[in-house]
Amino acid sequence: MTDIRDQAYLSGEDVKQLNFIKASRQYVFRKYYRSGLRSHIFEVLLAGDVEKETQGVIRDGIRVFPKAVPIKMFRIFRSRFDSKDEIFFEIKRYKTLLDHLGPAFIARSEEFITDYRGTGTTRILLCGLQEYIHGEILDPWRLSGRENLTALLSSMPHSNDMDSRLQTAVTSVRDFVRGIRELITTTGYIPDLAGVGNLIITPGGGIKLVDINNIVEIKKDHTVHLDDKGYPACDVSIQVLSILETKLLNKNLSRTDPLFKLFLHPERLETVKAIEREFYKTLGTD
Ligand SMILES: Nc1ncnc2c1ncn2[C@@H]1O[C@H](COP(=O)(O)OP(=O)(O)O)[C@@H](O)[C@H]1O
Ligand SMILES: [Mg+2]
Repeated sequence: MTDIRDQAYLSGEDVKQLNFIKASRQYVFRKYYRSGLRSHIFEVLLAGDVEKETQGVIRDGIRVFPKAVPIKMFRIFRSRFDSKDEIFFEIKRYKTLLDHLGPAFIARSEEFITDYRGTGTTRILLCGLQEYIHGEILDPWRLSGRENLTALLSSMPHSNDMDSRLQTAVTSVRDFVRGIRELITTTGYIPDLAGVGNLIITPGGGIKLVDINNIVEIKKDHTVHLDDKGYPACDVSIQVLSILETKLLNKNLSRTDPLFKLFLHPERLETVKAIEREFYKTLGTD
């Protein structure tokens, strides 16, 4: 991927002045329409595809405008880092995630560090060139059962029949959950499973975690810990784990699992809900 990094031509307000990407006629960086709190996300597109999208192509005598599909996603982590050690620590956390979940369940990223000199001062940035995951967002908070997986899958065309795709999806969720549990047991960390768009279901029934930069420590005490943005990421991610198990895998471990006994205690759930409400209020999206 070094060639993209070295030759990329930039478009879009925010990246016009990124000093670390060289001009190229081959690639276009376009701000992605979905974006999160922690990362700036850009699609890396082939210039030829963007041209077809905007100028159109004639097919069977009709001009159509095929949507350009990203060949990569380019992420810039918004956090400020004061030292390279802090960044290496962050990258190590991503590597831990990759080791435990494996490439089948996370969107792989080539992480790199760069100097940004756009604002008069030099800043160290953590960036990633990540595989683009085509699919639908799996919103855990709207899950009532496997019928939601069927609905998501049927909105995406695929050559396999629905029964086998659904079976694949259930197996993927099961293996994904197993990986998350193994990560928790061996490292004491959990990734943010709750953020909007963090989990994607692919047309064939795969599940992928695309948000790889927010991994939090599970502190097993009676305090609801907040991440650097003021979000109870650990608590809500454990809630999502339980939702996936209960709604999609038909397992209910909330009374027996020590982790769930602590984190899904009704009083604690209330506290977390109140914190979340405040969080969204300050964001102005509630
Ligand atoms: N590799 C990817 N492929 C497809 N969609 C992605 C990819 N990375 C991010 N997205 C989408 O972009 C949005 C923001 O990404 P996310 O990684 O969650 O950012 P943040 O770290 O700011 O929360 C989400 O809706 C997510 O689905
Ligand atoms: Mg996110």
